[in-house]
Parts: sequence; structure tokens; C-alpha cells
Amino acid sequence: MLLGHDKIEFLHLPTPLERLNNLSSDLGVNLWCKRDDLTNLGVGGNKLRKLEYFLADAMAKGATMLITEGGAQTNHGRLTAAVAAKYGLKCAIVTEDEYPGEISANLLLDGMMGCDVYFVKDMETGRQAVIDKYKAAGENVYYIPMGGSNELGILGYYECGVELDKQCREAGIGDATLFTTVGSMATYLGLLTGLKSVDSRIHVTGINVLPYGEGDLAANVKAAVMELYGRTCMFYGRNLGVTEDDIDIRTDFIHGAYNNAVPEVREAMYTLARREAIIIDPCYTGKTFEGMVSMIKSGEVSQGSDVIFIHTGGLPGIYTRHHRVELEKELMPYMHTDEF
Ligand SMILES: Cc1ncc(COP(=O)(O)O)c(C=O)c1O
Repeated sequence: MLLGHDKIEFLHLPTPLERLNNLSSDLGVNLWCKRDDLTNLGVGGNKLRKLEYFLADAMAKGATMLITEGGAQTNHGRLTAAVAAKYGLKCAIVTEDEYPGEISANLLLDGMMGCDVYFVKDMETGRQAVIDKYKAAGENVYYIPMGGSNELGILGYYECGVELDKQCREAGIGDATLFTTVGSMATYLGLLTGLKSVDSRIHVTGINVLPYGEGDLAANVKAAVMELYGRTCMFYGRNLGVTEDDIDIRTDFIHGAYNNAVPEVREAMYTLARREAIIIDPCYTGKTFEGMVSMIKSGEVSQGSDVIFIHTGGLPGIYTRHHRVELEKELMPYMHTDEF
């Protein structure tokens, strides 16, 4: 029970907090990784923490089916499908993206877990049509918003913030900077409010990977996060202690678009893979890791300080065609086909 809300526990928590020894000495900081990619259903990832709360709410309401939405390669959709499979619920994902011409990456896993994916032309009408279809077939539908980012979804990362603070205290980590990816925002806001709740000395820096509105991206992101925060305080009927000054979200590592193929991001992915055997993805965690390393190298993050990277999952993303093609080109020199 957290802030008056139950969850159904299916995760083996806490997730590990590991020191990355090789990269710590390469970069001159004490670098730690919070392994939320190692959560235990459907290949893992950050959305599972949110889904513990959504599942409890859905079960309490007698749901027989979970429906959610996102991009065709939504990690959140894949993990919603995983939870539905585990708990005997039907599942569908609605996406405005076009069918990519192949069933790869998350789409492959969605299908394997028995989840229907609807490629619709317009989200508003498409989502409603999908919900109506299943309701007419007798299902009791529980709808989860994109990314699981609403007032309830925040609880998953509120709890993670408390968990991480405890791990840091035990490991003797004090004034650390925590880097997290910012997409639909509940991970960032959950961490921030959770850490606030225990007067943590950990500072959270978000790396935004989603375009928000037209014009000034930084201002739009700040407005969106404060709007979600305001709704969350209303929902729980309490002030969760965040002010505008606490919001630290960088918008300069998006590289122009969402989920684009970026050479610098792939370089960062190779660095983490080759020095620590940890695999990150090109859409979310790769951009965050690349941003974090840039900030360490530029001196924005002090040498010798404690730095935590939260790995929020997303592994299937490396198998989407536009990323796979670029990775394959760069990795071909490792394939020795005619030497012996
Ligand atoms: C792998 C991964 N990391 C981070 C995020 C960002 O989390 P949030 O949407 O809560 O901001 C997402 C969102 O889809 C994700 O799939």
C-alpha cells in the first residue's frame, strides 16, 4: 500500500544497484547502474513497476482485459501484454503508426504473448473503436494511458525512488546525480517525488527523448511535467513537495527526433556494451546514457562525484529495422567470413 493504493506484487525487488568499475575509471566518476532492466516479466523494463499498481486497480474493478496505446514499438505495450498474459487477461495495443512491414522487436514479443495490435489511422476514433469492439464481445476493459503515465503510474517510480535512496545510504553514496530517461514522464516524476519523500540527497536529471509541442521544447517539457505533477497532488490530496526549481530535464540530447538512428548514441551503446556488458537501446536509454557521458566529459558533472544511471530497459528496440540496419553496417567488421 502506497499513498492509499494497493499493488499486486510480481516483481523481485529491489532491483540491483551495481557499480560500473570499468567506466568509473574511464570517466573519473563513481558510476552506478540501477538495473530496472532486470525486472522479471516479458524481457523487463521500467513499465512493470507502474503495472503492479495498474493491475491491482484493474483486478479490483473486475477487468478481463487491458488496453493501452503507444508507438508500434511501445515497450510499455509489450510489458502490458506480459502482465496480461501472466494474470490471464486479454490484451490489445492501439497504435497510430503504420504497420512497419515486418513483425520485429516489440511487435514480435507482443504477438508471442498473445496480444492484439491495432494499427489505426486516427488515435481518438481508433482507440474507441477497439475498446467498443471488445466491450461488445463481453470484455470488461481496463484502459491504461500511453506509457502508463498518469497519477497512479507514478507510484511505481515513487517507490523506486525510496528503494534507491535506501540502497544508496547502505552503499555510502551521498550527493549523487541520478540520470533517467524522460518520455511520458511518470518515471521521472515518480523518482523525484519518491526521493523527496525521504529527504534524499540524490539529485535527478532527466534526459528528454520525446518532442513536446511546437516551439521551445524545454519550456514545453517543464510545463508538461508541472501539469502532471499538479494532477498528481490533486489525486492524492497532498503536496508532494516538488517546486519548479526541482525540475531538471535536459532537452539537448534528443538529436532532433524521437527514436531516430543517431551515430553518437550507438557509440555510447557500444561503450557500455564493451566496457560493462550492459546492453541499452537506441530510443530511450541510449540517448540518456549518451547525454550523461557528454555531461561528465564536459565537466558539467564533477569528476569524482557519484553518478547513477537508471537502466529502464527497452532492449527489443535494437531489433527494429531502422536501428538494426545501422548497427549491422557498423558491426560487419566483427564478422570474419573468409579469413580461414
Ligand atoms: C525503455 C524505456 N525507458 C524509459 C522510458 C521513459 O519512461 P516514461 O515514459 O515514464 O517517461 C520508456 C518509455 O516508454 C521506455 O520504454
